[in-house]
Amino acid sequence: MADVIIRTDGIFVGGGGDGYQAAQALLLKYGNRHGLIAGATGTGKTVTLQVLAEGFSAAGVPVFLSDVKGDLSGIAVAGSTVHKLHEPFMQRAATIGLDLTYRAFPVIFWDLFGQKGLPVRATVAEMGPLLLSRLLELSDPQEGVLNVAFRLSDEEELPLLDLKDLQALLVFVAEHADEMSARYGLVSKSSVGAIQRRLLVLENQGGAELFGEPALELADLMLLDASGAGRISILAADRLMNSPRLYATFLLWLLSELFETLPEVGDPDKPKLVFFFDEAHLLFADAPKALIAKVEQVARLIRSKGVGVYFITQNPADVPENILGQLGNRVQHALRAFTARDQKDLRLASETYRPNPRFAIQDAIRDVGTGEAVTSFLEAKGIPGIAERTLIRPPSSQIGPIDDAVRAQVIAASPVKGKYDITVDRDSAYERLRAKSARAAKEAASAEALASEQAAEDKEFERARRYGGNGYSAPVKPGAGRSDSIGTAFAKSFARQLGTKSGQAIVRGVLGSLLGSRR
Ligand SMILES: Nc1ncnc2c1ncn2[C@@H]1O[C@H](COP(=O)(O)OP(=O)(O)OP(=O)(O)O)[C@@H](O)[C@H]1O
Ligand SMILES: [Mg+2]
Repeated sequence: MADVIIRTDGIFVGGGGDGYQAAQALLLKYGNRHGLIAGATGTGKTVTLQVLAEGFSAAGVPVFLSDVKGDLSGIAVAGSTVHKLHEPFMQRAATIGLDLTYRAFPVIFWDLFGQKGLPVRATVAEMGPLLLSRLLELSDPQEGVLNVAFRLSDEEELPLLDLKDLQALLVFVAEHADEMSARYGLVSKSSVGAIQRRLLVLENQGGAELFGEPALELADLMLLDASGAGRISILAADRLMNSPRLYATFLLWLLSELFETLPEVGDPDKPKLVFFFDEAHLLFADAPKALIAKVEQVARLIRSKGVGVYFITQNPADVPENILGQLGNRVQHALRAFTARDQKDLRLASETYRPNPRFAIQDAIRDVGTGEAVTSFLEAKGIPGIAERTLIRPPSSQIGPIDDAVRAQVIAASPVKGKYDITVDRDSAYERLRAKSARAAKEAASAEALASEQAAEDKEFERARRYGGNGYSAPVKPGAGRSDSIGTAFAKSFARQLGTKSGQAIVRGVLGSLLGSRR
């Protein structure tokens, strides 16, 4: 059998090699019905992910995946006959009736930190208060305050692009805590302070790089190459994994954006995009209910946008039940059964499969070797196929990472090279608030100067009326609109003194009226 990764209408995933079982394939038309790749460490999850990603790409479906250990970058180059796994791969290929040929796939590397790939950015506004609260682990009252900041940003046209914008807006909120409370409900300065401290932590974890512009355009994750193969976007997640919350939130954000942006397509012949979520347990570990509900909702609804989501995790029990229930295509690698807890998880995992009279699923999940799995893919009418013991096919691309020089070449040849390289710091909340304060201070200063000038003149007028004059012509009270007086000069120099205590007080006062004007 030739190595056509795509056989008729599905991705060839593997076979039994025991004469009983036909090839197992993931049907492209059910590719958007989501999936699960589970199994203990070292059992073959990453290789299975690689095989599925190759299959989708070959079928003209763009793929997004996160590379947690750096071992998926090999997809960008062809497997090699001198690789140490060449012989075992050939043997397995023969066992499952596959004529394995090596090839590379079109990869775009992305990296939040801009080092191992093109920089990926999102704006604070796109991220939104719900995800940001989760990212910052805010309490309910703190989340309330963050919501106020977002509303204010909308109502006052103070765009939140980067963390600087959010910081500036929070300073503003704190300085107007009373007015804010009157307008939106309780805003306590201590809550603002807590958010600000957490933002600092986030900044140190790489948040400063993540938030800003040019923000990622989703269309760039959905590209085909010249031959019609789906481009595989690989997000370098090794460093990102040091901040698991940032990692999980970012991927969830990406999913929500896809969900909100893509049009309905019903049930397409093949997915528009397939999204692999590695280390998926991070998304659910101590996640608040609201967030899990959001994941569940996004997973349920994104299907009709033609996006398939595949969760990769060690234990299926890591995935909340109502999300697990939505995952139609499954590859279950070996689970350990050392403890009573393990055994319970194993039993639960096996109960979610359609039984096969030829073997006990629970035993199979315990016994399968490396690169072998209990698999079940959706069949006609979207019914789960009977569970099979499957030897997963070897990938066509290289197993394991590529070196930095090759990565640099791939990055340099990227179809969106140059688009994201330079950070743009557009006029937004930070700049606008700063400009407003400067303007306000200037106005306040000249108003004050004018007032003191008038006071001086009034005094002069008074003095003249009382003691001076010849009795025939009353002294004329000086009007406004004269050229530079000592007073205006004073006002100008005062405006220059911005940043001093009184300057700031004035800024606060006038910004307060900015708020008041909308009330
Ligand atoms: N389909 C396969 N065919 C042949 N060998 C395989 C296959 N799958 C896995 N292997 C072998 O098993 C090794 C470990 O697989 P893999 O890295 O996919 O495990 P993993 O489950 O992702 O582990 P971890 O949880 O540590 O990330 C591979 O490097 C390879 O040698
Ligand atoms: Mg792995």
